[in-house]
Amino acid sequence: MHTRTFIIASLWAQWQLAVAAPTWPAPTDELEDILFLNTGYRSTGFATAVTPCSKGLQPRRVTSAEWLRTAFHDSISGNIYTGQGGLDGSIAWELDGLENEGNFADDSVAAWAPFVSDLTSLADVIAAATYALTRSCSNISVAVRGGRLDATEAGPQGAVPQPQNAIGIFRNQFARMGLDDKGMIQFVACGHSIGGVHGADHPEITNQDLANFDTTPTILDNQIATEYVSDTTLDPLVVGPSVNNKRNSDFRVFSADRNATIKSLAADPQLFASVCQSIFQTMIDLVPAGTQLSDPITPYDVKPYALQLTLLDGGSRLRFTGDIRVRTTQRDVSQVQLVYTTRDGVLAETPISTVYKGLAAGFDDSFSFYSFSIDLPVNTSISSFKVSVAYADATQTTFDNNGLSFPVQDTVIYQAPQSCFDSSGKLTVVAAVRDETAPNLQVLIKVPQASPNPVPSISTTTVPMAAQSAVGAYRLYSATLAFSPSVANPPVFGVFAGSVADARKGVNTGFSTSTTTSVSPSSTPTKDYSFQGCYYDSLNPRALSAHSTAADNMTVDLCASTCSQYHYFGLEYERECYCGNALDATSTQQSGTDCNMLCSGSSTQFCGGPHRISLYANDRYSAPVNPAIPGYEYQGCYSEGNTTRALLGHGFSAANMSVEYCAQLCRGATYFGVEYGEECYCDTTLQASSVPQPEADCAMLCAGNTSTYCGGPSRLSLYLNTTAPRLPVVNPTIANYTKSCLSERLYPESRVVWFGADWSVEISCMFVMFCREMQSIYVRVHTAPFRESCPSRKRDPLCMRSLTVIAI
Ligand code: HEM
Repeated sequence: MHTRTFIIASLWAQWQLAVAAPTWPAPTDELEDILFLNTGYRSTGFATAVTPCSKGLQPRRVTSAEWLRTAFHDSISGNIYTGQGGLDGSIAWELDGLENEGNFADDSVAAWAPFVSDLTSLADVIAAATYALTRSCSNISVAVRGGRLDATEAGPQGAVPQPQNAIGIFRNQFARMGLDDKGMIQFVACGHSIGGVHGADHPEITNQDLANFDTTPTILDNQIATEYVSDTTLDPLVVGPSVNNKRNSDFRVFSADRNATIKSLAADPQLFASVCQSIFQTMIDLVPAGTQLSDPITPYDVKPYALQLTLLDGGSRLRFTGDIRVRTTQRDVSQVQLVYTTRDGVLAETPISTVYKGLAAGFDDSFSFYSFSIDLPVNTSISSFKVSVAYADATQTTFDNNGLSFPVQDTVIYQAPQSCFDSSGKLTVVAAVRDETAPNLQVLIKVPQASPNPVPSISTTTVPMAAQSAVGAYRLYSATLAFSPSVANPPVFGVFAGSVADARKGVNTGFSTSTTTSVSPSSTPTKDYSFQGCYYDSLNPRALSAHSTAADNMTVDLCASTCSQYHYFGLEYERECYCGNALDATSTQQSGTDCNMLCSGSSTQFCGGPHRISLYANDRYSAPVNPAIPGYEYQGCYSEGNTTRALLGHGFSAANMSVEYCAQLCRGATYFGVEYGEECYCDTTLQASSVPQPEADCAMLCAGNTSTYCGGPSRLSLYLNTTAPRLPVVNPTIANYTKSCLSERLYPESRVVWFGADWSVEISCMFVMFCREMQSIYVRVHTAPFRESCPSRKRDPLCMRSLTVIAI
């Protein structure tokens, strides 16, 4: 074992030993899923965005570094002397502040928002994010506790250290967190071990798109320190333009104690790892005074999910259903049974058997899920169970939930078969209650918060339930609640009677006794498409990535027509619609009940959930083709050139681009190629750096003919003239387009670029800049990506594409 791994693994093991096995249920159960169910059945997918550590939303962005910096900016408001601030989610209120310039904090909070609930605050999610990113970028493993409360307003300005600050100001800023010089240096070195500085946001520090802090920017290691100490550092906060512009803050910080601390970090990678673990722990445990943090969350060995009793058959039977998760990190499981006790405390003779349902995994743990469904006589019912696990090595363990058994109450039961959402948005909930205590229905609704906070708040509505008929030993109660269309998310609800509750039911948990009804509360239209199931969707990559829209009136039909040109479409998070011809390999099938968010445009259809997509196949789909062009032969999907375009001769862009149209524009050129849906290039030769790529890279449909392919981002669908090639004609006329070209003498790499007369509709920063410059006749040559000129908050994928020449 690598020494560093050993040290950290030992720390982790010691910490685990010190923490008692958790007792179920706990308020941190949802957070436990976020921390440990990265992939597979019932996975939350939370860590997918930072796995591997190098993943980013765009080139030259690293999500793990952005998450870490965002966590730091949230926590640095903490003041140990006043007990205020710390990791409190206040960052969500500060996204417009200059201290959070750029997209890093907006995108981090947006990625975290779906995981916030009444049980899990944004601040707890940020702690989980720190665990996920450090674990993905190193062997460091911070202990996550739950129970943080979110701030209701922005924290004080000026807490975040700025690169131009004097060392005395840095000292004060870190002293408020309880850190002395040594702690400050350690914290900055640990933070700046990954990621770097973006020139677009900090032109006074670097003129590069991304100047990394060290040569291992996606490994959280001590390279930042070793390179600094050996004078080989390229850290832009130590060397480069930041020096003259007095923004070389890492130099000021690292040299604050005459380099003593940074040298010690450089000398010992294990020390670096343990120091970073402890300082990140300090960062996430710095919370406002009075916050009650839970014990560190460790994975359950056995954890129940979706336990549900349902009264059936005129009150004679209770159906008991659910899933059991078993940790399989050390041992494979061969059989799982529930040994249960009746309502009167008698041990049932026959245990409840289970069937294997699926696998899941976290960074350090693996799990198997087992599901069960059994009908029990009402008069004996169930009060608790233990889980008997037989392992593949022929050993057997009974898990009794720290001696308490896993409790099941049958006093108040949510009755799924009688509950529904009707088409007018009315939620009707029926409960069966055994002791005549009139229950209440409590509904949790996610309500949008004031700008700039993108995280919804949770409001609770309580409605008394009215008595209905008696059914055997139970009485049914019901309540109805109408939802206004402005309610952003479908409700989670529970039925409460006295001190007992059947809580945290999703809208379609009610239909979970049958998998077919659970995914379709009413007649989901079945037209030219067929439902495929509920699938996992990580944010990056997307399950379906060809096209996406979102709308408040989203329905299955609307998404189907939006995606009519694609093989698949899917709905997610109530208002999002995705299209694609192939499902990403990371998108695996999940429990049908996970897709339980109602569509924003229809309360009778489900539109996925957080990281869950309700997937449909378009039954009328016929795959697009690379069309046959007379005189040409399709060569395949080719990359753009390394420093120049693959085809340098002429370039066109048109909203009605098609392969046929491009062939026409290129008029017999040896090569022509279509790219990015609406671009067309031609030349007599193909640059050597343009090489074949997988066909899947050229999956963009032509803007002017969606049954044919037109390349992809930096990918050409390439055609070769098989007859006698002719030189292309320069500057053909295109109706309604402004035309211009550059003199080859002035600009040897010149190419004609076409823009529609109505180009202002296509707003991207590239076009905005272009618009400004159009005031005078102006020619501008960009050989570098245009992004450097874009206002950072308006970054757009289009701006990332390099524009060799713009001519007006
Ligand atoms: C003197 C104190 C600090 C100053 C002046 C400072 C300043 C900066 C600046 C200017 C950037 C570049 C941001 C960009 O262009 O995207 C940056 C990036 C970063 N900072 Fe700090 N920082 C300080 C301390 C810390 C600490 C204590 C952490 C600990 C978590 C941290 C974590 C990061 C990370 C992870 C990045 C990389 C972000 C990315 O690649 O997107 N910083 N910092």
